[in-house]
Amino acid sequence: MGAWKEGRREDPKPCREQDQGLFEITGRDGRARLGRLHTTHGVLETPALLPVINPNIRTIEPREMWDRYGIGALITNSYIIWKHDELKQKATADGVHKLLDFPGVVMTDSGTFQSYIYGDVEVGVEEIVEFQQSIGVDIATMLDVFSRPDMTHEQVEHCVDETLERAAKSVLASGSTMLNGPIQGGLFKDLRTKSAKGMAEHQFAVHPIGGIVPVMEQHRYKDYAKIMLASLPYLPPERPVHMFGCGHPMLFPMSIALGADLFDSAAYALFARDGRLLTPWGTERIDSMNDWPMMMPCVATITPIEVKAMSKEERTSLLARYNLEMTLSELSRCKQAIRDGTLWRLVERRSHQHPALREAFLWLSTRPQQAMMKLKMLDDLILNDRDAGRERGPDSGAWEEGWNWLVHAQETPRKGGEPWGGEDTFVRPQIVSARRNLIERWTPLENQGRGCESVLIMHGSSGPWRERLSDIMVRITHHAPGLEVLILTPVGLVPYSLEDLNPFAHIDGPDWLWRRRPNLSWIRRELDRLHLGERKIITVDMLGDGIQARCMEALQQAGVVDAVDDTESSPTHLDRDGREAAKLIVYRRLVSDKLSVLMNVESQAARNLLADATFVVNRQGRVKNAITGAGAHIASPRLGDGGLSLTDEGAVALHGLRKLEAPTQMPSSTSQPPKGAGPAWVMVNEDAEPFVRQGRNVFHGFVLAVDPWIRPSQTCLIVNKSGALLGHGLANGTADEFTGFTKGIAVKTRGGLSL
Ligand code: GUN
Repeated sequence: MGAWKEGRREDPKPCREQDQGLFEITGRDGRARLGRLHTTHGVLETPALLPVINPNIRTIEPREMWDRYGIGALITNSYIIWKHDELKQKATADGVHKLLDFPGVVMTDSGTFQSYIYGDVEVGVEEIVEFQQSIGVDIATMLDVFSRPDMTHEQVEHCVDETLERAAKSVLASGSTMLNGPIQGGLFKDLRTKSAKGMAEHQFAVHPIGGIVPVMEQHRYKDYAKIMLASLPYLPPERPVHMFGCGHPMLFPMSIALGADLFDSAAYALFARDGRLLTPWGTERIDSMNDWPMMMPCVATITPIEVKAMSKEERTSLLARYNLEMTLSELSRCKQAIRDGTLWRLVERRSHQHPALREAFLWLSTRPQQAMMKLKMLDDLILNDRDAGRERGPDSGAWEEGWNWLVHAQETPRKGGEPWGGEDTFVRPQIVSARRNLIERWTPLENQGRGCESVLIMHGSSGPWRERLSDIMVRITHHAPGLEVLILTPVGLVPYSLEDLNPFAHIDGPDWLWRRRPNLSWIRRELDRLHLGERKIITVDMLGDGIQARCMEALQQAGVVDAVDDTESSPTHLDRDGREAAKLIVYRRLVSDKLSVLMNVESQAARNLLADATFVVNRQGRVKNAITGAGAHIASPRLGDGGLSLTDEGAVALHGLRKLEAPTQMPSSTSQPPKGAGPAWVMVNEDAEPFVRQGRNVFHGFVLAVDPWIRPSQTCLIVNKSGALLGHGLANGTADEFTGFTKGIAVKTRGGLSL
């Protein structure tokens, strides 16, 4: 393959000076993020792959990387340049971009990896940073101390401490050049966390996770996941995270879902040299191949048999392109999955493609949760292989904090179907998050009316349920106002009032999933969590005709209602007025429970707010608008995800319910909201006030204070310094992100309140 000659891509434009070094988030799926890193050599869109360029052996020319593959950044080794006179001279005279003939972002490493491979390096700590700065790199790396997985705690602690010791002088030596501050810590959770917390104190631009190459080489992906969970929650979220030496596409989905932004890969070239192909499901050898595992542009007109007949050099060159194309294609798949909110499902799918990856996935989605929920087994739904994901013997510590960090950032409710993926479905972080909201915020009726000693569990069929159940709900509300009605879904019980809420209402699965006989011990545990554990369980199958009659019969048998005779002259006949009154109660519950579960409004306050409310209902019987007794349209249930959209008047009403003081500062950490505290407040400065009032988005940099329980995609209220309401919107981050970011959208404003 000759040098790349076709179309040339324009050189990047330097970012505005005030933006240089800043990172902003433009899209997210939980902790996975789409970002933009601003540099003197353009904006680097993340997640990004930085191909490793060995300045002495260029398998693919950097110019071709830029022009043909749209690569925005690459990584090379400053120590190699520093050691070779000719390279050093050229780099010093013309700069590293000219040396490589690459117009985009150039990151350099410091020689740490060489010291891991060959023993010591001769360069000084400040010297190598100053050298990187002098040759004009965009992102330099300090000389950290590599921690190997076979080292003892004491040895690793020395690596961590020594790296921390070097941090301040390295930052000082870097001047205005962005600097990588690698996290070390071997396989020790406490040391990874110590390293992350310590390095976070210094003014680094990017944090690579170091010391993971041998972990990946040994396919210890569970350890890899643990390293991430022990490090990333303690790093400043506004600094991108780079997985040092991770270039195998198989690891991209999981890494990105756990918060990684940057990868570097020498693998595309190294594997090509010995005839190995990188794929998202592992590595394949060309030796036994007649057809490509996946067609890539560079091999569109050539077969593996023809490639095997090529000279070694030609073959390596072609396979390196194949590997690069495959790697980039998995990266773009991940990016689109973030946009679609489906990244965890990709992680799940990929986990089946390599046993070590499956092990990592099972650990990740089981172990920390079990500890957190203090369960021996997650649930009856979680069967054998998940049990195997649990560890025997001592674990090196509690992992709940890392898992919490992941779950807390999940957007819920989401739009679209939630495909059933077996037991894995139950532990998807966004499903865990949705369940937590329900369990923590929903409360049963305090009303001691008839039926309050029982619950009715409707089961046996998938949603939508409203059309089938709305008449029954009216009858039950009239005859047994204390009875709670819940629907059994494959991911848990959901109260009828939340019957259209995602993900509960949106599980796409085979019929048998819904037809399974209700497991009473599991239902009992679910009821315990919902504070209904003491109640008698009545179950009714929703499949088949005559559901209303069957329901009433079951309730009658349980003694919850008396025999109902619905002829007009009977005293138990439900007349038009009674029916309308009961309907209103059902509608009120529907909106008040959503206010509680989705906006954390105290349940009695939500019920009071809607005490005299009326509703606009469409022809299909769906509530469109909720209007208070005073005539204020406060909220509208949403069709797509079963969520609730707050109106301007609704924002005023919820603002008025606040009992806590306004926030006074940027929180130092993220927390769960005190139950019933209402939507989080975002306090903005005077400059932002007129814009918010016009309904414009809030940008980081204008935010003065925020409640520590703010979460992405959740409704928040925007206030000024005196706590006056300016508008409302959907938050774009967690508290730690609000504290860290200075660029990008902080709140997507949905309504502004003009003066
Ligand atoms: N390349 C791969 N791993 C590492 C690491 O831990 N530190 C540095 N500086 N470079 C690396």
